[in-house]
Amino acid sequence: MIGKIYGTGSSLPKRIVSNHDLAKIVDTNDAWIRERTGVARRRIIREETTVSMAAEAAQKALEKSGILPEEIDLILVSTISSEVILPCTACEVQKYIKAVNAAAFDLNAACAGFLFGYTTAQAYIAAGLAKTVLVVGAESLSNLVDWKDRSTCILFGDGAGAAVLKAERGKIFPSVSHSDGKKGEALTCLSRHRKGAPRKMRDPQAYIQMDGQAVFKFAVKKVPKAVKELLEKAELTTDDITYFILHQANRRIVEAVAKRLRADIAKFPMNLEEYGNTSSASIPILLDELNRAGKLKKGQKIVLAGFGAGLSWGAALLEW
Ligand code: ACO
Repeated sequence: MIGKIYGTGSSLPKRIVSNHDLAKIVDTNDAWIRERTGVARRRIIREETTVSMAAEAAQKALEKSGILPEEIDLILVSTISSEVILPCTACEVQKYIKAVNAAAFDLNAACAGFLFGYTTAQAYIAAGLAKTVLVVGAESLSNLVDWKDRSTCILFGDGAGAAVLKAERGKIFPSVSHSDGKKGEALTCLSRHRKGAPRKMRDPQAYIQMDGQAVFKFAVKKVPKAVKELLEKAELTTDDITYFILHQANRRIVEAVAKRLRADIAKFPMNLEEYGNTSSASIPILLDELNRAGKLKKGQKIVLAGFGAGLSWGAALLEW
């Protein structure tokens, strides 16, 4: 059995923060940000929360899928930025959409989170442990960003995306997942609740800290390798793929991956100009945009590829 995507949904905060807005709070400018990252603006929460965006994206995906909430038997939410530690975001989503028969849990694989969630959903379906699975990526990275640090605050945005998968008879498509904990220090954010954490002082370690160039090099090396490994397993070439939906971290990373794969950049849709890097939400938000725009057609083969803190990365093949 294989999990087919029956519906997608997304939710984005109303507030738009442009590069020009950021230039008022840190020493940066629109030209620098666009040139180095491709980002022009991002959505930042005001009254929204990780839970509210996850629930809204899930609700929309469910409506689009034509599946009843009580049919869902597993909810996976990937997040690193929920306001709530307990109960988990997935249980909050379950409550909101009234998926009374579902088991629900969160997973943390940072920017590879949706990809790892999607692969976990496929594994549950293939093993006969679940028939209908909701996978959500939801982030309020603005809560984890040091708004005084221009090297990170310009990169990120908030949002959520979701997909509903239902078991169908069919060939299981391959996926590849990797992690390298030895390189974890390239991208960190310590818990504000840890023992001994300073309570009053501003604690830089409790915000996202990143070695930008190390992360860049990691992404442009490992992502093409993972996609090649995936295509080899599937006995396909880049010509067989309609879209490569990559985690939307940075336009230069996406372009470098396309180049290394010798694939047409037109096959690499991007929306990071509008939303910045929304971590685990970026792949499902983009998937939903393509779906709503009518660009996804039956039989198309699509590669999803995620990469980020951990370090973790991977790719999955699906047929629309
Ligand atoms: N505005 C203006 N100048 C800046 C800014 C800014 N926002 N940030 C840094 N600079 C300055 C630096 O201080 C430095 O100045 P100096 O030369 O006087 O020392 C100069 O610009 C160059 O800085 P670098 O850090 O070398 O810039 P780089 O070209 O590496 O670009 C960037 C930084 C965009 C973060 C890049 O390394 C990158 O894209 N990394 C990938 C990481 C990424 O996308 N992470 C997202 C999270 S992880 C994930 O999703 C996988």
